Amino acid sequence: MVVICSSNMVGGAMKSSQPVQCVFVRLSVLCLLLCPSVLPQRNDRPNFLLFMVDDLGYGDVGCFGNDSIRTPNIDRIASEGAKLTHHLAAEAMCTPSRAAFLTGRYPIRSGMGANHGLRFLPTIANTGGLPANETTFATLLKQAGYATALIGKWHLGLHCASGGSLCHHPNNHGFDYFYGTPITNFRECGEDGESVYYMTSVYRRYKQVCWAYLVGAASLLLIKFLGKMHVRWMTLLSLLTFCTLVMAFPEVFVIMLRPWNCVLMENEKVAEQPYSLKDLTPNLVNKSLKFIDDNADMPFFLYHSFLKVHTALFTTKEFEGRSRHGRYGDNVEEMDWAVGRILDAIEKKGLSHNTFVYLTSDNGGHVEEIRDGQREGGHNGILRGGKGMAGWDGGIRMPTVLRWPKDVRPGTVVDEPTSQMDVFPTVLRLAQLKTPGNRVIDGRDLMPLLTESKNVTDHRFFVHYCGSVIHAARYRPPTGESVWKAHYTTPNWDPGTEGCYDAFLCDCRGDYVTHHDPPLLFDVTKDPSERSPITPESEPKFAEIISTIDKGVKDHMSSVEQVENQFSLRNILWRPWLQPCCGHLPFCSCANNA
Ligand SMILES: *[C@@H]1O[C@H](CO)[C@@H](O)[C@H](O)[C@H]1NC(C)=O
Ligand SMILES: *[C@@H]1O[C@H](CO)[C@@H](O)[C@H](O)[C@H]1NC(C)=O
Ligand SMILES: *[C@@H]1O[C@H](CO)[C@@H](O)[C@H](O)[C@H]1NC(C)=O
Ligand SMILES: *[C@@H]1O[C@H](CO)[C@@H](O)[C@H](O)[C@H]1NC(C)=O
Repeated sequence: MVVICSSNMVGGAMKSSQPVQCVFVRLSVLCLLLCPSVLPQRNDRPNFLLFMVDDLGYGDVGCFGNDSIRTPNIDRIASEGAKLTHHLAAEAMCTPSRAAFLTGRYPIRSGMGANHGLRFLPTIANTGGLPANETTFATLLKQAGYATALIGKWHLGLHCASGGSLCHHPNNHGFDYFYGTPITNFRECGEDGESVYYMTSVYRRYKQVCWAYLVGAASLLLIKFLGKMHVRWMTLLSLLTFCTLVMAFPEVFVIMLRPWNCVLMENEKVAEQPYSLKDLTPNLVNKSLKFIDDNADMPFFLYHSFLKVHTALFTTKEFEGRSRHGRYGDNVEEMDWAVGRILDAIEKKGLSHNTFVYLTSDNGGHVEEIRDGQREGGHNGILRGGKGMAGWDGGIRMPTVLRWPKDVRPGTVVDEPTSQMDVFPTVLRLAQLKTPGNRVIDGRDLMPLLTESKNVTDHRFFVHYCGSVIHAARYRPPTGESVWKAHYTTPNWDPGTEGCYDAFLCDCRGDYVTHHDPPLLFDVTKDPSERSPITPESEPKFAEIISTIDKGVKDHMSSVEQVENQFSLRNILWRPWLQPCCGHLPFCSCANNA
C-alpha cells in the first residue's frame, strides 16, 4: 500500500517535498483503510485532450486504410492506444453532432434537431444555440476544479435572448478560456476572392421561387402596357417590392458573410474580423500550447476543435502542395502536424501517462464539395454517403482514435458500435465524477470495451436523426457478430450519383427523400458499404429484426421530451444588434490583436 501511495505522488505535485510526502503516505494508508472513496488526490486526476476535426472522412486517415495520405500523429495515437472503427456521430452535421458530443445526449433532447433544411446555425447573431440548462462535461469538469479551454470552432450559438447575454457562449458552457470562432469556417471565409457558394446553395431554392414571381410581374407589366387587361398599380408595386426584398435579403447575407461571420473571439471579445486563414493553424496551436504551459500543474481539459478540414481550405506555405491529394490532402496533413505539436507539448511536460487523448470528426467528408473539378471535401473510404446524409455510414461513422496509457493496451481495436456521446460518461468516470441523474444521458462508458473486459457494446440501439426526423436505426443484438441497420428514409441522390450535388447538401424531408416500407436492411458487419440490402428471402429473421428495431425506435421516441426548437425561424433570425462587430456595423473589421 505504501508503494502505491508514494508512487501515486511521484508523478504529482508533491514529488520534491519529502516530509509532506511522508505525511501523505501515512494519510493515504489511513485513507485506504478507512475511506477508500476519498481517494485519489487531486494530482492523480487525468487530463483530457480532445481533438475534434471538422468534416474529416473515414477514408482520410492512414490508420483507417489510407495508404497515400500522411497522418503519422493520428496513427501514433492509435498504435499507442486504441482505434475505434465503428464510432458514430449523433448527426451528419456539425451543430447537432457537437451538441450531442458535449452533452452525451441526442441533439433532439436539447432542441438541436432542425425541422427544416438548415441544420446548422447560419449566423452568429441569432438566438439559437445550446440551451443554458444543458450540461456539458466541460461544465462538470470545471466545477470539479479542472482548468478548461476550447480552442477553435464552437458553432453552438452565442446569445439566447434578443437582448444579448452570451448565454450560449463557451464561457457559459464550462470553458474558462475560449479562443476561436463562435460559428464555423465557411467557404466564403477564404481570402482568394472565391466566395458565395455555401450559403447561396441554401438559398437557391427560394431564389427560384422569386424568379418565378419576377417573371410573373414582368408579364403583368407587359400585359398592362399592351392594354389587354386591367391590373392595379398597387398590386404590381407590392409584388415587385416583395420580390426585391426576398431576393436582396439573401444577397446581402452572402456578400456580408465574410465580414460578419468569419470572426475569431478571445473569450467575449472579438479578436479578429474577418479572420485571416493564412496562419490560423499555428495560431490555434500556439493558443493550445500556452494553455498547456499555464495549466501543467493542475488537472486540465483542452478541447482543440479544428476549423479544418472544412472549406475554405487553408494551409501555411510549408504545407502547400505537400500531399498527394491536392489542397484537401495538404489540409489533412497540416491538421495532423498540429495534432503532433500538441502531443509533443504534453510529452515534454511529462504528462502523457496521465492524459486521455481522443480524436474524432464531427461528421463525414463532404462529397459534394467540389470546386473547379477538384474534390475539396473528404473521402469516406469504403463507407457510402457523407456529410448531411444522416443514415448512411459515410456521414456518421467517424475515424476515431484514443490513448489512455493507464488502462488501454497499445494497439487495441474496438470494432463494436460506439458513439461520440459515450465520451461524456467516459470522461466523467475517469475524472471520478458522477454522471448527472436528472436527465437522460444516451452515452455509455467506453472503458469496458477499451479494456476488453466486455466485448459487446452496452448500446442495443442507435437512432440516426436527420434534423428532427429519424432516418435510420442500428441494432446490436447481445450475441453474435451482426450489427443491423434499418433505413426508414434515404435522401434522393442526383441521378447516377451518390450525392446531392445540385443542392450541395442532402435534405431530410419532403420531396428530397424516399421512404422505405419495409425499411432497407443491412448487416453493417458483413456489408459495411451498405451495398446489398437484406430481404425476407435472404434472411429468415427479417421480420423479427425489423420489429425489434421498430420497438427500439419507439422506446427512444417515447423518452424524448418536447423542448424549444433551437432552429425555429425565431431562433435563426439574424438580429443586427446581436452581431459581434469590431468597428461599425455593417463594416466590421479589425486585425488580430489577441
Ligand atoms: C486518401 O485520402 C485522399 C484525400 O481524401 C483520397 O483522395 C484518397 O482516395 C484516399 N485513398 C484511399 C486509399 O483511401
Ligand atoms: C507561434 O509561436 C511560435 C513560437 O513562440 C512563433 O514563432 C510563431 O510566430 C507563432 N505563430 C503564430 C501564427 O502565432
Ligand atoms: C465475447 O466473449 C465471450 C467470452 O469470452 C465469447 O463467448 C463471445 O463469443 C464473444 N463475443 C464476440 C462478439 O466476440
Ligand atoms: C431545460 O428547460 C426546458 C424549458 O424549460 C425544459 O423543457 C427542459 O426539460 C430543460 N432541460 C433540462 C435538461 O433540464
